[in-house]
Amino acid sequence: MTATIPAWSAGLSTPSYGLVRAPGQIVFGEGCSAGLGDLVTRLGTRVLVCTDRRMGDDPAFRSLVDSLTRAGATVTVYTGVESELPVPSIEACVDRLGAGEPDVIVGVGGGSSMDFAKALAVLLTHGGSLRDYYGELRVPGPTYPVVAVPTTAGTGSEVTPVAVVTDPDQVLKVGIASPYLIPAVAVVDPVLTYGCPPALTAHTGADALAHCVEAFTAVRRPAETAALATSRVFVGKTVLTDLYALAGIELIARSLRRAASAAPDDEARRDMALAALYGGLAFGTAGTAAAHALQYPIGALTHTSHGEGVGLLLPFVMAYNASPELATVAAVLGADDAVTAVRQLMLDVGIRPTLADLGLRADQIDWVAASTMRVTRLLDNNPRPVGEAAARAIVAGAFAGDLSLGGTA
Ligand SMILES: NC(=O)c1ccc[n+]([C@@H]2O[C@H](COP(=O)([O-])OP(=O)(O)OC[C@H]3O[C@@H](n4cnc5c(N)ncnc54)[C@H](O)[C@@H]3O)[C@@H](O)[C@H]2O)c1
Ligand SMILES: [Fe+2]
Repeated sequence: MTATIPAWSAGLSTPSYGLVRAPGQIVFGEGCSAGLGDLVTRLGTRVLVCTDRRMGDDPAFRSLVDSLTRAGATVTVYTGVESELPVPSIEACVDRLGAGEPDVIVGVGGGSSMDFAKALAVLLTHGGSLRDYYGELRVPGPTYPVVAVPTTAGTGSEVTPVAVVTDPDQVLKVGIASPYLIPAVAVVDPVLTYGCPPALTAHTGADALAHCVEAFTAVRRPAETAALATSRVFVGKTVLTDLYALAGIELIARSLRRAASAAPDDEARRDMALAALYGGLAFGTAGTAAAHALQYPIGALTHTSHGEGVGLLLPFVMAYNASPELATVAAVLGADDAVTAVRQLMLDVGIRPTLADLGLRADQIDWVAASTMRVTRLLDNNPRPVGEAAARAIVAGAFAGDLSLGGTA
C-alpha cells in the first residue's frame, strides 16, 4: 500500500526551523468531555470552573460539573465571565475567592471563558495586577494548571500562550503572552459546539481560518534560530506549525459553509472543532499578523466580534502581502486564487462585506491606521512590512470592499 501524500505537502517550508508549543495533553473527539473529571483530578481536587452566565445554565455545562464531582473533585463554579474580559472583572474574581484557592482552574466556553481562566491563573499564582503582565514574556513562572474546554470552534485558546483582555484605561485590547499561559490540558469535544448558532459559527470559523493563514504566511526568522524558542513567544513561520496551518485550512474549506448553515451537520462541526484546534497550534507558536493587528482598533470602535473583523480583513491583508505561500493556500482551498477564494468563503458564511457595514466611519480610517501601528507584537510577524500608509490603504480597501485598493500601497 502506498501512503497518500497530500497535494499541498510540496508547499511546506523547507525543513529549516521548527517549533511547536502545546499543552501536555490534548484530547479530541465526540464525547471525550465526559472524561473531564478524571483528567482534571489528576492535577488536583479543589477545582474552580469558570464560564459565562449563558453557559452556566446550559445542561452540557452541568454535565461537565457532574463529571468533576463524580471524580471526587470539590468544585466551585464561577459564572461571571463577561464578554471582552474587562480587567476589573478578573481581579474581582480573585478578591471573591479570598483564601479558597483552587488546585486547578477549568475554563469552559468560548475564547472569553478560556482566556479568563488563563488570566486568573496568572493572578492567583503570581499576585499583583494584570497590568504587570501585559505584553510578552512577563509572567515570571508556571501558574496553577489550567484545563481548557472550548465550546466554540474558533479561537484555539485551549492550546495557545495568550489571553486577551480589556483594560478600562486603554482603548485597544491588550494581550498577556507567555508560554506559561498554555493550558496543561485541552479537552476538545465537538459535541459542545453543536448548539452554536450560525453567526457565531461563521465568526469563530473565520477566526480559525485567519489563524491558519496568518501562521502559514508569517515572517521567517532564520537569522535568530538559536534564540527563537526562548526570546519570543511568537516566532514566525516554522515547519512544524505549517503542518497544522495547512491541515486546518483544508478542513475549513471543506466544512465551514456547512457548519455555519442552519441545518445540523455533525461532521462539519467536527471538522471545524479540529480546524480551530489546529489553528491554535499553528498560531500559538508562529503568531498571527496584520489582519489581527488591524482588528484591534476596528473592534474597539465598532464593538463587532473579533472573528468577523479578522475574517473580513483577512483577504485584504493577503492581497497586500502577496506572499509566495498563497499559491499553496490556493491549492489547499482547491482554488485558482487564494485571495478571492477566502473573500468568497467569508461572504458565503455571512461575514459582512465591508468595514462600513461593521459600522466604521470613513473619518475613522486614519485613526485605525495610526492605532494599528501600536500593535507591534503582531505587525512584526507580518511577511511584508506594514507602515501607516499601507495600513490606511488596506483599511480603505476593506472599508469599500474593493480588493484592488490595498495591495500596492
Ligand atoms: N487566547 C487566544 O488564543 C485567543 C485567540 C482568538 C481570540 N481570542 C479571544 O476570544 C474571545 C472570543 O471568543 P469566542 O469567539 O469563542 O466567543 P466568546 O467566548 O466571547 O463567546 C461569545 C458568545 O458565544 C456564546 N457561546 C459559547 N459557546 C456556545 C455554544 N456552544 N452555543 C451557544 N452559544 C455559545 C457565549 O456564551 C457568548 O455569549 C475574544 O475576547 C478574543 O479576543 C483569544
Ligand atoms: Fe483570532
